[in-house]
Amino acid sequence: ILRTLISWLIKDMLKKTLGDIMVYSHHYNSVSSEWSFVLSITDYQYQTAAQVIDQRTAVALARIPNVDLRFFLPPPPLPHTEDDISIEDGLRQLLASLPQSEVDQCVQYFTSLALRESSQSLASQRGGLWCFGGNGLPYAQSLTSTPSQKVETFCLQALVQHSKVHSHCDHIVANGGLQLLQRVYQLRRDSPKIQRNIVRIIGNLALNESLHTAIVQSGWVSVLAEMIQSPYIMQASHAARALANLDREAVRQKYQDGVYILHPQCRTNQPIKADVLFVHGLLGAAFKTWRQKDLDMTDDDKVEGVPEDYTECWPKSWLAADCPNLRILSVEYDTHLSDWKAKCPAENQRKSLAYRSQELLRKLKDAGVGERPVVWVAHSMGGLLVKKMLLDASKDPDLSPLIKNTKGILFYSVPHHGTFMAGYSVNVRYLLFPSIEVKELCRDSPALRDLNENFLNITKEQEFKVLSFAETLPTSIGPMLKILVVPSQSADLCIGDLIQVDVDHLNICKPEKKDSFLYKRTLQFIQDALRGQRI
Ligand SMILES: *[C@@H]1O[C@H](CO)[C@@H](O)[C@H](O)[C@H]1NC(C)=O
Ligand SMILES: *[C@@H]1O[C@H](CO)[C@@H](O)[C@H](O)[C@H]1NC(C)=O
Repeated sequence: ILRTLISWLIKDMLKKTLGDIMVYSHHYNSVSSEWSFVLSITDYQYQTAAQVIDQRTAVALARIPNVDLRFFLPPPPLPHTEDDISIEDGLRQLLASLPQSEVDQCVQYFTSLALRESSQSLASQRGGLWCFGGNGLPYAQSLTSTPSQKVETFCLQALVQHSKVHSHCDHIVANGGLQLLQRVYQLRRDSPKIQRNIVRIIGNLALNESLHTAIVQSGWVSVLAEMIQSPYIMQASHAARALANLDREAVRQKYQDGVYILHPQCRTNQPIKADVLFVHGLLGAAFKTWRQKDLDMTDDDKVEGVPEDYTECWPKSWLAADCPNLRILSVEYDTHLSDWKAKCPAENQRKSLAYRSQELLRKLKDAGVGERPVVWVAHSMGGLLVKKMLLDASKDPDLSPLIKNTKGILFYSVPHHGTFMAGYSVNVRYLLFPSIEVKELCRDSPALRDLNENFLNITKEQEFKVLSFAETLPTSIGPMLKILVVPSQSADLCIGDLIQVDVDHLNICKPEKKDSFLYKRTLQFIQDALRGQRI
């Protein structure tokens, strides 16, 4: 009976994992002899395997789709000591131990205020104002008591900023950051947002290979292996980025902060023929911009909940299924700080198109974008950023492959000729374009005109396809006001087709269903642009 059972177990496991293991052992001939042992396993043997599996093997296993999580040692138990400090204090101490150089001026401003406030009034304001900038800030005044999770999120966002500075990563690790973050992660399993911020930091630390051993030893591989299997695309994508950065054996590219791989997220033997790159607009984000159109639910529907096939990211759910040989990336630029920035006295250049273009070009080069055919998909201001990047790339011999390999650009309501927004009140503008960028977006601004003329100039020498969608419905801005954010004339680049769609500015990039016109036309464009690449 035992023998039958074991052979059944082996067969079952083989069926489930052999395909992946073949891929795996293709890279790892040296360990494949161990599989006969690993495949016939009981819980006890999983534990044994977990003990003997080395760092690289653990990372490789974590990147196999649906791998059994018993392969991984659980994170070390949380310390239960008498002087166990609160999460908030732990984060504050870590923050205080980091250098202030090189981080964004706004982060410096808020960190220093935060630390000053907290030392003055930590006891009375525990969980209170200090993190929010303290005296004189209207936002802070309105928050008499702040839920501690919000404070933690705020501190984690500051830590994210530090983790973007390579030299600060060493300090985070040396000062016990990996263990502290592990503890916060375990204690905050109810907050997906806190967990994403933490894993974003881990993904940034993993960019430096010399920190890999410390990351693995503090138990992160098992956490990431579990998170990458999450049904929630944002969770899975953050974990996928961190694991890709840890998997130096199979992944040559580096995924810098804000560059997410939507597909393929695991190790695969599927050849990648081309890249498709999604670039959101202002106030957008790497995932939420690209969700399926929100459901207009009646109360009856709400009881039944969101339909099972609703997707929070259609490029991952639909495009990857239709074109499995694509690598699909989504990039994010610093929008999550807009809350702080509005109150930050420091002028900063971060927000100009020129700055963002240079920053993103560097990150995309690290991710290997430009080495194979690429199609760009951009919403709103993201389209201006794409034009600026291509223009900058055309002037840089190092980046000429990026230009040569650009096969198509799809623009969703991109204000090529500006918006009327500048004519609206500051309050209205702030909702959609909260920054100095509004200057760049003025209708017929000289900056936009130059950008467009220079861009059209490079399109003459390059062969790539262009498609533009334009909104025809006004967008609700608050309860009283509806405006057409980007009129069709402004969305018209004058090359390629311009298609008007009866949706508003925010929904132009959110198809209602997989068989709706917006998605089908998008898919057709990508396939046409990459004709000959066998995607
Ligand atoms: C990576 O980490 C090592 C040691 O922790 C450090 O010496 C090195 O400067 C770091 N590399 C970068 C690019 O920051
Ligand atoms: C257009 O491109 C050509 C060739 O690259 C260049 O000589 C010319 O100055 C450009 N024109 C503008 C307006 O940038």
